[in-house]
Amino acid sequence: GGLAPGATADLDKEQVLGVLEAVWRRGDLNLERALYSHANAVTNKYCGGGVYYRGLVEFSNICQNDCSYCGIRNNQKDVWRYTMPEEEVVEVAKWALENGIRNIMLQGGELKTEQRLEYLERCVRAIREQTTKLDLEMRARAASTTTAEAAAAAQADAESKPGQEPELGVVVSLSVGELPMEQYQRLFRAGARRYLIRIETSNPDLYAALHPEPMSWHTRVECLRNLKKAGYMLGTGVMVGLPGQTLHDLAGDVMFFRDIKADMIGMGPFITQPGTPATDKWTALYPNANKNSHMKSMFDLTTAMNALVRITMGNVNISATTALQAIIPTGREIALERGANVVMPILTPTQYRESYQLYEGKPCITDTAVQCRRCLDMRLHSVGKTSAAGVWGDPASFLHPI
Ligand code: 5AD
Repeated sequence: GGLAPGATADLDKEQVLGVLEAVWRRGDLNLERALYSHANAVTNKYCGGGVYYRGLVEFSNICQNDCSYCGIRNNQKDVWRYTMPEEEVVEVAKWALENGIRNIMLQGGELKTEQRLEYLERCVRAIREQTTKLDLEMRARAASTTTAEAAAAAQADAESKPGQEPELGVVVSLSVGELPMEQYQRLFRAGARRYLIRIETSNPDLYAALHPEPMSWHTRVECLRNLKKAGYMLGTGVMVGLPGQTLHDLAGDVMFFRDIKADMIGMGPFITQPGTPATDKWTALYPNANKNSHMKSMFDLTTAMNALVRITMGNVNISATTALQAIIPTGREIALERGANVVMPILTPTQYRESYQLYEGKPCITDTAVQCRRCLDMRLHSVGKTSAAGVWGDPASFLHPI
């Protein structure tokens, strides 16, 4: 209470925890309502009701890590492993541009080989080159000019906004895990500009319980710092409802995002996936759980976290994650009313989708990119938001580098 409409508040850990406890106990519905409506006011103030699209291309499920919750971890049985051919990845990016989506997120399992890195460099370069060319052709056609004139116009437009590249083609974001600094720099030189790597939890002990060695929380944090230094817009996030996680941990997560100066945040509920150690642990911890109502609580905690991050950090990009929709069919729309301003339509070709099953009940597994795009447009519309798919959509936080 007491905040001006749309004002941010520098909440401390105790205050965040207090709100999370209230949401968890469901004891104060007025507080919940005030939390969500204030978060929505802050979102509207910074984002004007426009929702950014990030087209997700799950290009490979081959992974050398063994994160205990994940359906494509190295030791997960019965997964058909694939890597999309480069040309197919580039085709998806061009399709995205033609369909008004100017952001592509390449996500894949983690593989620290030179071969994988070169594959990614080629994908990023080809996407930047070919979508820039396509963009100029589209602009020239729309304005009945030559592509050279279209290029000059884009350049002039960029020069009117100091420090900005001309917004041509699609922006390439990567979500390909922990790599040495030198490789982050190579991918940046290839043209990638944003990078997502969730910290998964800000509690190092809980992290250690979920990620077998040689993975370590400190390495993950170092990667986050390196990505910032390399010049990327940094995205991170956590899962909510991990076995062994506490409300204290979640409050710490909000402080972590603030301290690391994340530009983008994505949070989703932990969802069970048969055959994973974390799911066995979850089942042992909550033998009598009513799963539906438990998951509903995790949904509420996740959206409360979104709201708290929005109120604390103001102008960052917060994703309404797909995992929310696995719990409530309208989960992503609800998140957009509680602080989120980004959605990630899955553009992965249908044939690969069922092999990228990170958790059970992952939505959209039999859909096409066309369906995912249209479906999200409708979902936005249903909550009075509009699509801002056609802009690069840099978070203003990025204009204040470390
Ligand atoms: N439930 C929810 N989210 C998951 N992720 C992986 N496995 C699960 C699961 N079982 C999330 C992780 C990872 C992102 C790509 O997917 O947070 O960073």
